[in-house]
Amino acid sequence: MRRGARPGHGRGPVNWLPARVVALRAKVFEKLNGDNAITFPNDQVGPDRFQELYGHPAANGRSRGAGLSDLFWYWLSPGPEVHQEHLEAGPRYDDVARATRSFLAGPAESLSATAGDCTSRVLDEVLTGRVTRVRLRDLMMPIWAEYFYELVFGEPCPRAARDLIVGHATDVVNSLKCTGLRHPARRARLTRYLEQRLADVRHPLPETLSRTEQVHYLQGTYFNTAVVQTSEAMAHLLLALAQHPEVAARLAQNPDDDRYFAHVLDETFRLYPLFGIAHRITTADISLDEQTTFPAGSVLCFNYPVYHATGYANPDEFDPGRWERSTARHAHHIPFGIAANRPCPAWRFSPIAMRAATRVVLRRVTLHSSVTHTRSLPSRGPCLLVRDGPVPSLTPMRVRDRWEDVWRSVVQLVLGTAMVLHARRLRLAGRYFDTHGPQGCPVRH
Ligand code: HEM
Repeated sequence: MRRGARPGHGRGPVNWLPARVVALRAKVFEKLNGDNAITFPNDQVGPDRFQELYGHPAANGRSRGAGLSDLFWYWLSPGPEVHQEHLEAGPRYDDVARATRSFLAGPAESLSATAGDCTSRVLDEVLTGRVTRVRLRDLMMPIWAEYFYELVFGEPCPRAARDLIVGHATDVVNSLKCTGLRHPARRARLTRYLEQRLADVRHPLPETLSRTEQVHYLQGTYFNTAVVQTSEAMAHLLLALAQHPEVAARLAQNPDDDRYFAHVLDETFRLYPLFGIAHRITTADISLDEQTTFPAGSVLCFNYPVYHATGYANPDEFDPGRWERSTARHAHHIPFGIAANRPCPAWRFSPIAMRAATRVVLRRVTLHSSVTHTRSLPSRGPCLLVRDGPVPSLTPMRVRDRWEDVWRSVVQLVLGTAMVLHARRLRLAGRYFDTHGPQGCPVRH
Protein backbone atom coordinates (compact mmCIF):
# COMPACT_ATOMS: atom_id res chain seq x y z
CA MET A 1 0.00 0.00 0.00
CA ARG A 2 1.17 3.51 -0.74
CA ARG A 3 2.46 5.38 2.29
CA GLY A 4 -0.27 7.50 3.80
CA ALA A 5 -2.85 5.93 1.48
CA ARG A 6 -6.01 4.66 3.10
CA PRO A 7 -7.73 1.40 2.32
CA GLY A 8 -11.06 2.05 0.62
CA HIS A 9 -11.38 4.86 -1.87
CA GLY A 10 -14.78 6.29 -0.94
CA ARG A 11 -15.54 9.97 -1.15
CA GLY A 12 -16.49 10.61 2.49
CA PRO A 13 -14.55 13.06 4.70
CA VAL A 14 -12.76 10.11 6.24
CA ASN A 15 -10.82 9.80 2.97
CA TRP A 16 -9.94 13.32 1.94
CA LEU A 17 -10.14 15.62 4.96
CA PRO A 18 -6.97 14.66 6.88
CA ALA A 19 -4.74 15.04 3.79
CA ARG A 20 -6.30 18.42 2.92
CA VAL A 21 -5.76 19.66 6.44
CA VAL A 22 -2.10 18.62 6.41
CA ALA A 23 -1.65 20.46 3.09
CA LEU A 24 -3.40 23.56 4.42
CA ARG A 25 -1.27 23.57 7.57
CA ALA A 26 1.91 23.32 5.49
CA LYS A 27 0.72 26.35 3.46
CA VAL A 28 0.08 28.40 6.62
CA PHE A 29 3.61 27.67 7.88
CA GLU A 30 5.15 28.42 4.49
CA LYS A 31 3.32 31.76 4.37
CA LEU A 32 4.75 32.69 7.75
CA ASN A 33 8.25 32.55 6.36
CA GLY A 34 7.48 35.29 3.87
CA ASP A 35 8.62 35.48 0.28
CA ASN A 36 12.26 34.63 0.86
CA ALA A 37 11.63 30.96 1.82
CA ILE A 38 12.51 28.30 -0.74
CA THR A 39 11.93 24.56 -0.34
CA PHE A 40 14.36 21.95 -1.73
CA PRO A 41 14.70 19.68 -3.65
CA ASN A 42 13.10 21.67 -6.46
CA ASP A 43 13.67 22.28 -10.19
CA GLN A 44 16.53 24.65 -9.47
CA VAL A 45 18.40 22.52 -6.91
CA GLY A 46 17.42 18.89 -7.40
CA PRO A 47 18.22 15.86 -5.23
CA ASP A 48 21.71 15.57 -6.75
CA ARG A 49 22.73 19.01 -5.38
CA PHE A 50 20.58 18.98 -2.26
CA GLN A 51 23.44 18.09 0.11
CA GLU A 52 25.83 20.52 -1.57
CA LEU A 53 23.46 23.39 -0.76
CA TYR A 54 22.58 22.05 2.73
CA GLY A 55 26.29 21.71 3.54
CA HIS A 56 27.29 25.15 2.19
CA PRO A 57 29.25 27.13 4.81
CA ALA A 58 26.92 30.14 4.38
CA ALA A 59 23.80 28.01 4.98
CA ASN A 60 24.43 28.27 8.71
CA GLY A 61 22.00 30.79 10.21
CA ARG A 62 19.49 29.22 12.58
CA SER A 63 17.04 31.66 14.11
CA ARG A 64 17.78 35.28 13.32
CA GLY A 65 15.80 36.66 10.38
CA ALA A 66 13.15 33.98 9.79
CA GLY A 67 9.47 34.41 10.65
CA LEU A 68 9.28 30.67 11.29
CA SER A 69 11.68 31.03 14.25
CA ASP A 70 8.96 32.82 16.26
CA LEU A 71 6.80 29.73 15.93
CA PHE A 72 9.53 27.24 16.87
CA TRP A 73 10.61 29.34 19.83
CA TYR A 74 6.97 29.46 20.94
CA TRP A 75 6.64 25.68 20.78
CA LEU A 76 9.98 24.94 22.45
CA SER A 77 9.74 27.43 25.32
CA PRO A 78 11.00 27.88 27.97
CA GLY A 79 14.53 28.82 26.99
CA PRO A 80 14.43 28.41 23.19
CA GLU A 81 17.23 30.99 22.93
CA VAL A 82 19.71 28.51 24.46
CA HIS A 83 18.48 25.38 22.72
CA GLN A 84 21.44 24.06 20.71
CA GLU A 85 19.27 23.77 17.64
CA HIS A 86 18.50 27.50 17.72
CA LEU A 87 21.89 28.94 18.69
CA GLU A 88 23.75 30.87 16.04
CA ALA A 89 27.25 29.60 15.15
CA GLY A 90 29.99 30.95 17.45
CA PRO A 91 31.61 30.36 20.84
CA ARG A 92 28.33 29.84 22.72
CA TYR A 93 27.17 27.24 20.22
CA ASP A 94 30.57 25.47 20.44
CA ASP A 95 30.39 25.41 24.24
CA VAL A 96 26.84 23.99 24.26
CA ALA A 97 27.59 21.42 21.53
CA ARG A 98 30.65 20.24 23.51
CA ALA A 99 28.52 19.69 26.62
CA THR A 100 25.90 17.73 24.66
CA ARG A 101 28.58 15.49 23.14
CA SER A 102 29.93 14.64 26.59
CA PHE A 103 26.46 13.66 27.88
CA LEU A 104 25.78 11.40 24.89
CA ALA A 105 29.20 9.70 24.90
CA GLY A 106 29.87 6.43 26.71
CA PRO A 107 30.50 2.77 25.97
CA ALA A 108 27.84 1.08 23.83
CA GLU A 109 27.38 -1.70 26.43
CA SER A 110 26.33 0.65 29.19
CA LEU A 111 24.07 2.74 26.89
CA SER A 112 22.39 -0.52 25.80
CA ALA A 113 22.11 -1.94 29.30
CA THR A 114 20.38 1.18 30.63
CA ALA A 115 17.97 1.28 27.67
CA GLY A 116 17.12 -2.40 28.18
CA ASP A 117 16.53 -1.91 31.93
CA CYS A 118 14.29 1.15 31.48
CA THR A 119 12.25 -0.67 28.82
CA SER A 120 11.82 -3.77 31.02
CA ARG A 121 10.71 -1.71 34.02
CA VAL A 122 8.04 0.18 32.09
CA LEU A 123 6.80 -2.98 30.33
CA ASP A 124 6.46 -4.67 33.75
CA GLU A 125 4.07 -1.88 34.73
CA VAL A 126 2.10 -1.84 31.49
CA LEU A 127 1.79 -5.51 30.49
CA THR A 128 -0.77 -6.70 33.00
CA GLY A 129 -2.96 -8.92 30.77
CA ARG A 130 -2.55 -11.17 27.74
CA VAL A 131 -3.47 -8.37 25.33
CA THR A 132 -2.59 -4.72 26.04
CA ARG A 133 -3.89 -1.79 23.98
CA VAL A 134 -1.39 1.06 23.79
CA ARG A 135 -0.46 4.13 21.83
CA LEU A 136 3.17 3.48 21.03
CA ARG A 137 4.37 7.03 21.63
CA ASP A 138 2.71 7.08 25.06
CA LEU A 139 4.26 3.70 25.86
CA MET A 140 7.71 5.00 24.95
CA MET A 141 7.62 8.37 26.77
CA PRO A 142 8.19 7.06 30.34
CA ILE A 143 10.95 4.72 29.11
CA TRP A 144 12.97 7.56 27.61
CA ALA A 145 12.11 9.94 30.46
CA GLU A 146 13.73 7.45 32.85
CA TYR A 147 16.60 6.90 30.45
CA PHE A 148 17.55 10.55 29.99
CA TYR A 149 17.07 11.29 33.68
CA GLU A 150 19.64 8.57 34.38
CA LEU A 151 21.95 9.94 31.67
CA VAL A 152 21.81 13.41 33.24
CA PHE A 153 21.81 12.57 36.97
CA GLY A 154 23.51 9.16 37.02
CA GLU A 155 20.86 7.56 39.26
CA PRO A 156 17.50 5.79 38.77
CA CYS A 157 14.59 8.12 37.99
CA PRO A 158 12.07 8.68 40.83
CA ARG A 159 8.43 8.37 39.78
CA ALA A 160 7.64 12.04 40.55
CA ALA A 161 10.47 13.24 38.27
CA ARG A 162 9.35 10.87 35.53
CA ASP A 163 5.83 12.30 35.66
CA LEU A 164 7.17 15.85 35.38
CA ILE A 165 9.34 14.93 32.39
CA VAL A 166 6.60 13.02 30.58
CA GLY A 167 4.12 15.87 31.24
CA HIS A 168 6.55 18.40 29.80
CA ALA A 169 7.66 16.38 26.76
CA THR A 170 4.08 15.42 25.91
CA ASP A 171 3.02 19.05 26.10
CA VAL A 172 5.79 20.07 23.69
CA VAL A 173 5.13 17.35 21.12
CA ASN A 174 1.34 17.80 21.22
CA SER A 175 1.69 21.51 20.52
CA LEU A 176 4.26 20.87 17.76
CA LYS A 177 1.77 18.54 16.08
CA CYS A 178 -1.09 20.96 16.82
CA THR A 179 -3.08 18.26 18.63
CA GLY A 180 -3.04 20.33 21.85
CA LEU A 181 -2.24 23.85 23.04
CA ARG A 182 0.85 24.66 25.13
CA HIS A 183 0.61 24.68 28.92
CA PRO A 184 3.44 26.92 30.19
CA ALA A 185 2.58 26.15 33.85
CA ARG A 186 3.12 22.42 33.28
CA ARG A 187 6.50 23.12 31.69
CA ALA A 188 7.43 25.51 34.51
CA ARG A 189 6.99 22.74 37.09
CA LEU A 190 9.86 20.82 35.47
CA THR A 191 11.94 24.02 35.27
CA ARG A 192 11.57 24.51 39.06
CA TYR A 193 12.54 20.90 39.73
CA LEU A 194 15.66 21.18 37.54
CA GLU A 195 16.67 24.43 39.24
CA GLN A 196 16.86 22.56 42.54
CA ARG A 197 18.84 19.70 41.01
CA LEU A 198 21.44 21.66 39.04
CA ALA A 199 24.31 20.71 41.35
CA ASP A 200 23.61 16.97 40.88
CA VAL A 201 24.20 16.86 37.12
CA ARG A 202 26.98 14.37 36.31
CA HIS A 203 28.76 16.31 33.49
CA PRO A 204 29.96 19.91 33.35
CA LEU A 205 27.29 22.28 32.00
CA PRO A 206 28.10 24.94 29.35
CA GLU A 207 30.12 27.66 31.12
CA THR A 208 29.00 30.44 28.80
CA LEU A 209 25.42 30.04 30.03
CA SER A 210 23.97 31.65 33.16
CA ARG A 211 22.42 29.42 35.83
CA THR A 212 18.90 29.93 34.46
CA GLU A 213 20.13 29.26 30.94
CA GLN A 214 21.80 26.04 32.11
CA VAL A 215 18.45 24.88 33.53
CA HIS A 216 16.78 25.68 30.20
CA TYR A 217 19.56 23.87 28.35
CA LEU A 218 18.89 20.70 30.38
CA GLN A 219 15.16 20.99 29.97
CA GLY A 220 15.23 21.68 26.23
CA THR A 221 17.91 19.20 25.21
CA TYR A 222 17.36 16.12 27.38
CA PHE A 223 13.82 16.39 28.70
CA ASN A 224 12.28 17.70 25.52
CA THR A 225 14.27 16.92 22.34
CA ALA A 226 15.91 13.69 23.50
CA VAL A 227 12.75 12.21 25.09
CA VAL A 228 10.45 13.31 22.27
CA GLN A 229 12.71 12.29 19.39
CA THR A 230 13.59 8.87 20.78
CA SER A 231 9.94 8.15 21.67
CA GLU A 232 8.79 9.19 18.21
CA ALA A 233 11.52 7.19 16.50
CA MET A 234 10.64 4.10 18.55
CA ALA A 235 6.91 4.57 17.83
CA HIS A 236 7.66 4.58 14.09
CA LEU A 237 9.92 1.55 14.33
CA LEU A 238 7.47 -0.51 16.41
CA LEU A 239 4.50 0.48 14.24
CA ALA A 240 6.42 -0.56 11.12
CA LEU A 241 7.17 -3.90 12.82
CA ALA A 242 3.50 -4.29 13.80
CA GLN A 243 2.54 -3.89 10.15
CA HIS A 244 5.35 -6.07 8.74
CA PRO A 245 5.23 -9.19 10.89
CA GLU A 246 7.79 -11.03 8.75
CA VAL A 247 10.36 -8.32 9.55
CA ALA A 248 9.46 -8.40 13.26
CA ALA A 249 9.73 -12.21 13.33
CA ARG A 250 13.18 -12.13 11.71
CA LEU A 251 14.38 -9.57 14.26
CA ALA A 252 12.88 -11.53 17.16
CA GLN A 253 14.50 -14.78 16.00
CA ASN A 254 17.90 -13.15 15.39
CA PRO A 255 18.29 -10.63 18.22
CA ASP A 256 22.06 -10.44 17.67
CA ASP A 257 21.87 -9.72 13.94
CA ASP A 258 22.91 -6.08 14.24
CA ARG A 259 23.24 -5.71 10.49
CA TYR A 260 19.61 -6.61 9.83
CA PHE A 261 18.47 -4.32 12.66
CA ALA A 262 20.46 -1.47 11.04
CA HIS A 263 18.67 -2.09 7.72
CA VAL A 264 15.26 -2.06 9.39
CA LEU A 265 16.11 1.17 11.20
CA ASP A 266 17.53 2.79 8.03
CA GLU A 267 14.33 1.93 6.19
CA THR A 268 12.14 3.24 9.02
CA PHE A 269 14.05 6.53 9.09
CA ARG A 270 13.96 6.75 5.28
CA LEU A 271 10.15 6.48 5.11
CA TYR A 272 9.38 8.24 8.39
CA PRO A 273 12.13 10.82 8.99
CA LEU A 274 11.55 12.69 12.24
CA PHE A 275 12.20 16.01 10.55
CA GLY A 276 9.72 17.04 7.86
CA ILE A 277 11.67 20.17 7.04
CA ALA A 278 14.88 21.58 8.49
CA HIS A 279 15.59 25.19 7.69
CA ARG A 280 18.66 27.41 7.50
CA ILE A 281 19.02 31.14 7.00
CA THR A 282 21.86 32.14 4.68
CA THR A 283 24.40 34.38 6.41
CA ALA A 284 26.11 35.40 3.14
CA ASP A 285 25.32 35.14 -0.57
CA ILE A 286 25.52 31.58 -1.89
CA SER A 287 26.47 30.92 -5.48
CA LEU A 288 26.34 27.26 -6.55
CA ASP A 289 26.89 28.18 -10.22
CA GLU A 290 26.16 31.14 -12.48
CA GLN A 291 22.42 30.49 -12.58
CA THR A 292 21.97 29.28 -9.02
CA THR A 293 22.47 31.99 -6.42
CA PHE A 294 20.75 32.82 -3.16
CA PRO A 295 21.19 36.19 -1.45
CA ALA A 296 22.08 36.51 2.25
CA GLY A 297 18.95 36.29 4.39
CA SER A 298 17.24 33.59 2.29
CA VAL A 299 15.37 30.92 4.24
CA LEU A 300 16.31 27.53 2.82
CA CYS A 301 13.90 24.71 3.72
CA PHE A 302 15.20 21.17 3.28
CA ASN A 303 12.38 18.68 2.79
CA TYR A 304 13.46 15.32 4.21
CA PRO A 305 10.57 13.05 3.11
CA VAL A 306 10.74 14.30 -0.49
CA TYR A 307 14.54 13.90 -0.60
CA HIS A 308 14.31 10.43 0.97
CA ALA A 309 11.84 9.36 -1.72
CA THR A 310 14.22 10.16 -4.61
CA GLY A 311 16.74 7.71 -6.05
CA TYR A 312 15.00 4.51 -4.91
CA ALA A 313 12.95 1.86 -6.69
CA ASN A 314 9.42 1.78 -5.20
CA PRO A 315 10.20 4.55 -2.71
CA ASP A 316 6.80 4.30 -0.98
CA GLU A 317 7.36 0.68 0.04
CA PHE A 318 8.79 -0.33 3.41
CA ASP A 319 11.57 -2.67 2.29
CA PRO A 320 14.53 -3.18 4.67
CA GLY A 321 15.97 -5.57 2.06
CA ARG A 322 16.87 -2.62 -0.18
CA TRP A 323 19.75 -1.81 2.19
CA GLU A 324 21.36 -5.19 1.42
CA ARG A 325 21.83 -3.91 -2.12
CA SER A 326 22.97 -0.34 -1.38
CA THR A 327 24.54 1.49 1.53
CA ALA A 328 22.86 4.24 3.51
CA ARG A 329 25.97 6.36 3.29
CA HIS A 330 25.74 6.77 -0.49
CA ALA A 331 21.97 6.98 -0.79
CA HIS A 332 19.62 9.96 -0.38
CA HIS A 333 19.33 9.24 3.29
CA ILE A 334 20.02 11.84 6.00
CA PRO A 335 17.91 10.87 9.05
CA PHE A 336 20.31 12.69 11.40
CA GLY A 337 21.04 15.66 9.13
CA ILE A 338 24.28 16.17 7.26
CA ALA A 339 27.77 15.98 8.73
CA ALA A 340 28.87 19.29 7.19
CA ASN A 341 26.13 21.38 8.80
CA ARG A 342 25.13 20.79 12.41
CA PRO A 343 24.10 17.14 12.34
CA CYS A 344 22.26 15.54 15.25
CA PRO A 345 24.63 14.93 18.20
CA ALA A 346 22.75 11.66 18.93
CA TRP A 347 23.76 10.18 15.57
CA ARG A 348 25.80 7.38 17.16
CA PHE A 349 23.91 7.06 20.39
CA SER A 350 20.28 6.70 19.17
CA PRO A 351 20.55 3.44 17.16
CA ILE A 352 22.39 1.77 20.08
CA ALA A 353 19.71 2.66 22.63
CA MET A 354 16.87 1.91 20.21
CA ARG A 355 18.24 -1.54 19.37
CA ALA A 356 18.39 -2.51 23.05
CA ALA A 357 14.83 -1.30 23.69
CA THR A 358 13.48 -3.09 20.59
CA ARG A 359 15.08 -6.36 21.66
CA VAL A 360 13.33 -6.22 25.03
CA VAL A 361 9.95 -5.42 23.44
CA LEU A 362 10.20 -8.24 20.87
CA ARG A 363 11.27 -10.72 23.55
CA ARG A 364 8.07 -10.06 25.49
CA VAL A 365 5.28 -9.38 22.99
CA THR A 366 4.19 -9.46 19.37
CA LEU A 367 2.88 -6.19 17.91
CA HIS A 368 -0.29 -5.74 15.83
CA SER A 369 -1.82 -2.64 14.32
CA SER A 370 -4.13 -1.67 11.46
CA VAL A 371 -3.83 2.14 11.72
CA THR A 372 -2.55 4.51 9.05
CA HIS A 373 1.18 5.04 9.41
CA THR A 374 2.10 8.60 8.48
CA ARG A 375 5.30 10.55 9.10
CA SER A 376 3.82 12.94 11.64
CA LEU A 377 1.86 10.16 13.39
CA PRO A 378 -0.59 12.41 15.27
CA SER A 379 -2.49 9.24 16.35
CA ARG A 380 0.51 8.33 18.52
CA GLY A 381 0.43 4.80 17.03
CA PRO A 382 -2.43 2.68 18.38
CA CYS A 383 -1.19 -0.91 18.71
CA LEU A 384 -1.97 -4.23 20.40
CA LEU A 385 0.77 -5.90 22.43
CA VAL A 386 0.05 -9.63 22.60
CA ARG A 387 1.86 -11.95 25.01
CA ASP A 388 0.57 -15.26 23.64
CA GLY A 389 -2.51 -16.86 22.09
CA PRO A 390 -4.75 -15.54 19.32
CA VAL A 391 -4.68 -11.95 18.07
CA PRO A 392 -8.04 -10.12 18.40
CA SER A 393 -9.65 -8.69 15.25
CA LEU A 394 -7.98 -5.49 14.07
CA THR A 395 -11.06 -4.17 12.26
CA PRO A 396 -12.42 -2.02 15.13
CA MET A 397 -9.01 -0.38 15.48
CA ARG A 398 -8.95 0.47 11.77
CA VAL A 399 -12.45 1.98 11.77
CA ARG A 400 -11.78 4.02 14.89
CA ASP A 401 -8.47 5.29 13.52
CA ARG A 402 -10.09 6.56 10.29
CA TRP A 403 -12.74 8.52 12.19
CA GLU A 404 -10.29 9.83 14.76
CA ASP A 405 -8.22 11.08 11.84
CA VAL A 406 -11.10 13.22 10.64
CA TRP A 407 -11.90 15.01 13.89
CA ARG A 408 -8.25 15.28 14.83
CA SER A 409 -7.39 17.00 11.58
CA VAL A 410 -10.05 19.63 12.26
CA VAL A 411 -8.71 20.11 15.81
CA GLN A 412 -5.18 20.45 14.38
CA LEU A 413 -6.27 23.10 11.93
CA VAL A 414 -8.04 25.17 14.58
CA LEU A 415 -5.34 24.84 17.27
CA GLY A 416 -2.53 25.27 14.70
CA THR A 417 -4.03 28.52 13.45
CA ALA A 418 -4.54 29.77 17.03
CA MET A 419 -0.90 29.00 17.93
CA VAL A 420 0.48 30.54 14.74
CA LEU A 421 -1.39 33.75 15.52
CA HIS A 422 -0.35 33.72 19.18
CA ALA A 423 3.30 33.10 18.22
CA ARG A 424 3.17 35.98 15.77
CA ARG A 425 1.86 38.27 18.49
CA LEU A 426 4.50 37.19 21.02
CA ARG A 427 7.32 37.35 18.40
CA LEU A 428 9.73 35.61 20.79
CA ALA A 429 12.67 35.27 18.40
CA GLY A 430 12.16 38.63 16.74
CA ARG A 431 12.00 40.46 20.09
CA TYR A 432 15.07 38.63 21.40
CA PHE A 433 17.16 39.67 18.39
CA ASP A 434 15.88 43.25 18.67
CA THR A 435 17.86 43.48 21.90
CA HIS A 436 20.55 40.76 21.62
CA GLY A 437 23.40 40.01 19.23
CA PRO A 438 23.82 36.53 17.69
CA GLN A 439 25.96 35.43 20.67
CA GLY A 440 23.32 36.49 23.21
CA CYS A 441 24.99 39.75 24.26
CA PRO A 442 22.62 42.66 24.90
CA VAL A 443 22.79 45.37 22.23
CA ARG A 444 21.53 48.95 22.32
CA HIS A 445 19.95 50.66 19.34
C1 HEM B 1 16.33 8.76 16.72
C2 HEM B 1 16.41 9.85 17.07
C3 HEM B 1 16.79 11.16 16.43
C4 HEM B 1 16.72 11.60 15.13
C5 HEM B 1 16.25 10.83 13.90
C6 HEM B 1 17.20 12.96 15.12
C7 HEM B 1 17.29 13.77 14.00
C8 HEM B 1 17.88 15.02 13.97
C9 HEM B 1 18.12 15.82 12.78
C10 HEM B 1 17.72 15.42 11.38
C11 HEM B 1 18.76 16.95 13.15
C12 HEM B 1 19.34 18.04 12.26
C13 HEM B 1 18.33 18.98 11.68
C14 HEM B 1 18.98 20.16 10.99
O1 HEM B 1 19.81 20.00 10.07
O2 HEM B 1 18.65 21.27 11.39
C15 HEM B 1 18.89 16.91 14.59
C16 HEM B 1 19.47 17.90 15.34
C17 HEM B 1 19.61 17.86 16.71
N1 HEM B 1 19.29 16.80 17.53
FE1 HEM B 1 18.51 15.01 16.96
N2 HEM B 1 17.55 13.31 16.40
C18 HEM B 1 17.34 12.23 17.22
C19 HEM B 1 17.58 12.14 18.56
C20 HEM B 1 18.17 13.12 19.32
C21 HEM B 1 18.51 12.97 20.70
C22 HEM B 1 18.34 11.69 21.54
C23 HEM B 1 19.06 14.14 21.11
C24 HEM B 1 19.58 14.37 22.49
C25 HEM B 1 20.23 15.30 22.96
C26 HEM B 1 19.05 15.04 19.95
C27 HEM B 1 19.50 16.35 19.95
C28 HEM B 1 19.62 17.14 18.81
C29 HEM B 1 20.18 18.49 18.83
C30 HEM B 1 20.68 19.24 20.05
C31 HEM B 1 20.17 18.94 17.50
C32 HEM B 1 20.67 20.30 16.97
C33 HEM B 1 22.09 20.11 16.49
C34 HEM B 1 22.77 21.43 16.15
O3 HEM B 1 22.14 22.33 15.61
O4 HEM B 1 23.96 21.50 16.46
N3 HEM B 1 18.51 14.37 18.89
N4 HEM B 1 18.38 15.72 15.06
